[in-house]
This record gives sequence, structure tokens and C-alpha cells, in this order.
Amino acid sequence: MSSSSVADHPIGIDFGGRGIKAAPVDLGRGDFAGDRQRIATPDPATPDAVADVFVELLASLAKAEGIDGSTSPVGVTVPGIVRHGVVGSAANIDDAWIGTDADALFTKATGRAVRVLNDADAAGLAEVRFGAARGQNGLVVVTTLGTGIGSAFVHDGVLVPNTELGHLEIDGHVAESRAANSVRESEDLTWEKWARRLTTYYRTLERLFSPDLIVVGGGVSKHAASFLPMVELETPIIPALLLNKAGIIGAALHAAEG
Ligand code: BGC
Repeated sequence: MSSSSVADHPIGIDFGGRGIKAAPVDLGRGDFAGDRQRIATPDPATPDAVADVFVELLASLAKAEGIDGSTSPVGVTVPGIVRHGVVGSAANIDDAWIGTDADALFTKATGRAVRVLNDADAAGLAEVRFGAARGQNGLVVVTTLGTGIGSAFVHDGVLVPNTELGHLEIDGHVAESRAANSVRESEDLTWEKWARRLTTYYRTLERLFSPDLIVVGGGVSKHAASFLPMVELETPIIPALLLNKAGIIGAALHAAEG
């Protein structure tokens, strides 16, 4: 158990398509240090509208914990490429994000030191430090199967950011347009059919990158028993452990140590 008070804990914010969620994170235990707060994602989810939600979330976290919290670092996930705080792609978010200096925008809006990173990179950091890939050396590839497909490369515990392997072109298709969980839902694919698409996808990753371990995250990973045993691969492939906590925990880790 960490002996620090809630006020010292970094805060992670996970910016998703449906909800924006925030919690203080205890990096000693790799878990939330207080209640999670959630606000529905604004529509349209422009950078300014999202920054307003962050301000509200930080205020309600401070109120819930009965603290000021203004000195704790804040980490934020964004579902796009993030280079040195600047968002470089917007496959599943408002186009207004492209070219936005999100570190600067959120730091100004919240009056806190805010550090932004890609959502899958956050999940990757969290799974390697505290979750399914804890203690794994070599190359761990963490993928998130959701609206799109996110990816993180973590080599000997060090993140190589912005790998964007959901956008690999395979057999003439962008991989996430065939194998994301949203496609399974919209095309009403059986687990078997989806597992065949996932096999094609993960075999490509295996051939190109020779990972030591593949971790499958995203909300659907809680149903891993229904599809993962049908994904045929040489490389060990396992479900994520932290589920919908991974983004928040990884964001807080990045803010505190990144
Ligand atoms: C984006 C990635 C993101 C992934 C999961 C993709 O469409 O390009 O940056 O990590 O979706 O949200």
C-alpha cells in the first residue's frame, strides 16, 4: 500500500468516443486511488469542447476527494497520433484535432501540467507495468479492439509511441476497417468469423514484428474466451487485465514518469 495521500496522486483522463473518464491513480498499486468520474463526450467533440469537460472533471474529482489537487500531474489519452503533445491524426475523432497542440491547450484550460499520449500507448504502458504483460521482457505488442484498432509497442518496458498498426493495409483493406470490434458489431459477425479476421491481422503483426507477446485489450477483451482460443497464432496472445482502467492508469503513469 502506498502511504501517500490522494492529493499526491497523478490523475489520468481517458478521452473516448462515448465518455470522458478521470480518476486519481495510485502508482504503487497500479489502481485507482479514488472514485472515477465520467462525463459524456460532447458532440461535436472539438478540442475546446473536450477541454471544457476536462476542467469540469478535475473540479468534480477535487470535490469528491475533498482536495485541491492542483499540483498533481494530469495525463490524457487521445485516440490519434500524438507527437510531442501535438495531435497528428483523427481517424475516429473530429478533424479539428489535427495539428492541435493538445498539451498546450489542456495546460492552459486547466491551469495544470497536462501531458497527452495516444490511447493505445497508454493502455500498453499500463498493461506492461501492472497488467497482463507485467514482467515480460522483449517486445510486447498491446492492441485495443474498439471503434478502431489501437496498438502499442513496449520493448523491455520502454514504449515506442504511435505505431498505428490498426492502419496497416492487409489484402487491400485498412486493418481496422475489417477487424475492429465496431466492425464485428456493425456487420453482425459471429465470434468464429471475427476470429478468422483477427487471425489474418495478428499473423501479419507476427510476421512483420516477431513479438514475444501480444495482449488484446479494448472493452471486448472481457469476452476473450469467446474468440481468442480461435485466433491461430505461434506467438502467445492473451487478454488484457486492466480492461477499462488501462487508459486512465497509463495516462497517469505517463504524466508522472513519462
Ligand atoms: C487511431 C489510433 C487509436 C485507435 C484506437 C485508430 O483509428 O488511428 O490512434 O489508437 O484508433 O482508438
